[in-house]
Amino acid sequence: MSARLLVAYLLLIGCAGTQSTLDPGGDQAGALFSLFALTMWVCGAIYTVVAAGLGWALWQAWRRRGVDARGDGDVTHRTDRRLTRLLPFVAGTIVLGLTVLITASFFADRALFATRAAPALEVRVTGHQWWWRVEYRDPASGGWIETANELHLPQGQTVRLALGAADVIHSFWVPNVAGKLDMIPGRTNLLDITARRAGWYRGQCAEFCGMQHAHMALAVKVEPPAAFRAWLAAQAAPAGAAAGRGAMVFATACAACHAIRGTGAGGRAGPDLTHVAGRRTLAAGTLTMTRGNLQGWITQPQAIKPGTSMPAVPLTPADADAVAGYLAGLQ
Ligand code: CUA
Repeated sequence: MSARLLVAYLLLIGCAGTQSTLDPGGDQAGALFSLFALTMWVCGAIYTVVAAGLGWALWQAWRRRGVDARGDGDVTHRTDRRLTRLLPFVAGTIVLGLTVLITASFFADRALFATRAAPALEVRVTGHQWWWRVEYRDPASGGWIETANELHLPQGQTVRLALGAADVIHSFWVPNVAGKLDMIPGRTNLLDITARRAGWYRGQCAEFCGMQHAHMALAVKVEPPAAFRAWLAAQAAPAGAAAGRGAMVFATACAACHAIRGTGAGGRAGPDLTHVAGRRTLAAGTLTMTRGNLQGWITQPQAIKPGTSMPAVPLTPADADAVAGYLAGLQ
């Protein structure tokens, strides 16, 4: 028994997790999972019927080998008639199964894209080679609050994502909360997400978009609405006053591409870094967020993520250390 349990455990261990369609944590992922489960059951039933029919036919053929040799034609005809009577049953099972699947697929699709009441929150997510620009509509001011590579969602509320792309086609996919949807330059695709289970999930660009497509991950946090509102308010706040050598080096070497709200830095080519140290990962899921990794990324981006738009900025070790220290303080 324990061996069987072990086999079942090993088979199912891959199904749970933070990047899995088989462990839904939201309404849309739940609708897709139900459709998947139904498809497995229906296809399993059709397979069983077809395999049983084939087995029965083979068995009959094997049984009548000797009968044919004796020239007993009656038995042969009887078997043929029985096989003919079986055919409508097999065909009927297949037609019924496929009809059930088509109907369920239609309703799953409607559940995903049903026009609901106004969403609780609007978020713009834009794919870049190879990172995600994430902007939240500020409920207070109506303006946009920008961050990158991390998406926070209020638990139990419907969020409408406006998906776009800045360069090539990317695809938004966070399997635990919703199905994938392409991000196409010059077009906005809307995706509603109602996340139900709090926790961290992992999203991944699902459309090949160049050399570092595999390093285009998105950290997703589903949290209770109060915690989400507190987080969003913190994100909306500008960074503290820029002071010290790190801030000075940043202003000359990095500010052309990166913004830190509240300071003079307003570049838009790369991710907004106003609260960069508060994120879980760096370079779209490539590195965990630590001061050491920040410094490594600043000095050797092409070694860590070859082809990235982030250039290797020629900084002295002391300057690189100062900038990393400054960024590590931007919580
Ligand atoms: Cu972006 Cu693949």
